[in-house]
Amino acid sequence: MPGADERPGAAGGEGPGSRAHAPAGRPPRVSRRALFGSAAGGLTVVAGGAAAAALRSGDDRSIAPATIPFHGLHQAGILTPRQSQVRLAAFDLGARTDRGRAAALLLRWTAAAERLTRGESPDPRNEPPGSRAAETGVLAGTGPARLTVTFGLGPGFFDRPGLTRHRPAALAPLPAFPDDRLDPARSSGHLLVQIGADDSFVAAHVLRTLQRLAQGEARLRWTMTGFTAADGRRNLMGQIDGTNNPDPRRALLSAPGVPAWLVGGSYVVIRRIRMLLDHWDTLPAAHREQALGRRAADGAPLSGGDERTPVDLAAVRPDGVPMVAANAHVRLAAPAADAGDGAVMFRRGWSYHDGVRADGTPDAGLLFLAWQRDPRTAFVPVQRRLARGDALSRYLVHEASAVFAVPGGVSPGEYVAQGLMEG
Ligand code: HEM
Repeated sequence: MPGADERPGAAGGEGPGSRAHAPAGRPPRVSRRALFGSAAGGLTVVAGGAAAAALRSGDDRSIAPATIPFHGLHQAGILTPRQSQVRLAAFDLGARTDRGRAAALLLRWTAAAERLTRGESPDPRNEPPGSRAAETGVLAGTGPARLTVTFGLGPGFFDRPGLTRHRPAALAPLPAFPDDRLDPARSSGHLLVQIGADDSFVAAHVLRTLQRLAQGEARLRWTMTGFTAADGRRNLMGQIDGTNNPDPRRALLSAPGVPAWLVGGSYVVIRRIRMLLDHWDTLPAAHREQALGRRAADGAPLSGGDERTPVDLAAVRPDGVPMVAANAHVRLAAPAADAGDGAVMFRRGWSYHDGVRADGTPDAGLLFLAWQRDPRTAFVPVQRRLARGDALSRYLVHEASAVFAVPGGVSPGEYVAQGLMEG
């Protein structure tokens, strides 16, 4: 891919986002009509039962339609049932990408995502100015496969286009945690794209398309590829994962006290967590269950009952030993009963398996995604506790880390983060 700023005439053209139209210190108003003419004005929303599906917290794919609407109060891909495949990607803005050009990129991405989620090719007029690349029809005949495309802004996004004072305090870079072994090249990033679909082919091409549309403005920093079990229930350690997830709407931001562009949005923390599976597989089953605090077979807490029975952290065996060990994952991860929504995390992750490492061990684990209202009061304190002594952590290595603000959803005619870019 050419360097982020090698596009000829990038800043000087007539198109939206060109500096020529920007009043001093303010971004140009990026008009969809100016970009696509009137044809894009009539974008339609696929409705059907999708709205109901979008509000479900579980992974019940049987009720989900093949097309998930792009428009709405929230970006799709937070409340929507997880798809079987994901591509996560982070992009960094080019050195010369100012506010107007960053806005034009977000407009191009929004317009492409709208069409792709309906199963349509991006508008050929949506290509970056000066680009000779074109859509080649790769997705003809595939269907959108419940595609969702979700965009986020990292802490570093705000500096380049002169928006530093608009960076929310909650979007601070995450602190270092004990035993982190982070790869900077696969961490952080100015822009996040989460592409979920039930077809890996679709997800891969959508990423390729967004990368093409970013040409001249943003360079791909890292990508990660994940998948779920067919029923979406187990992770690669064999555990039933997601049982005690809260209602995901509790991770969404609402007024007051939240900038308008973030209302309906959220913060997402992403951790690439490798599982030491070769070691894990040698452990006695009872040890594996104690490390988590739940039974492997049915996900029931070790304090008794079935999967849906609340964990009783006070329960003790007749000999006085806690039924859920003092260092069990579910004990240390559970938010305090009175912690309120600031501590709520909605976990919506995917497994990954990228072959074997040089030492022959699996390069496999969990792409952990946690949605929340404030990472400082949700992810950070929990991860501090886990890193200090969680029994599961002995078999995990945190290898990459990122945090993003995920703007609220958009209506037809708007683009993601428009209120921020033009405010
Ligand atoms: C590869 C890493 C991880 C694995 C395999 C894992 C697995 C699990 C499993 C199987 C459960 C029990 C079922 C459930 O309620 O979902 C659970 C619960 C939970 N985990 Fe993790 N987890 C991992 C990392 C993390 C991290 C990094 C955090 C946050 C910093 C976290 C936070 C939680 C929370 C909040 C719960 C619910 C606790 C409760 O209230 O019962 N987990 N995890």
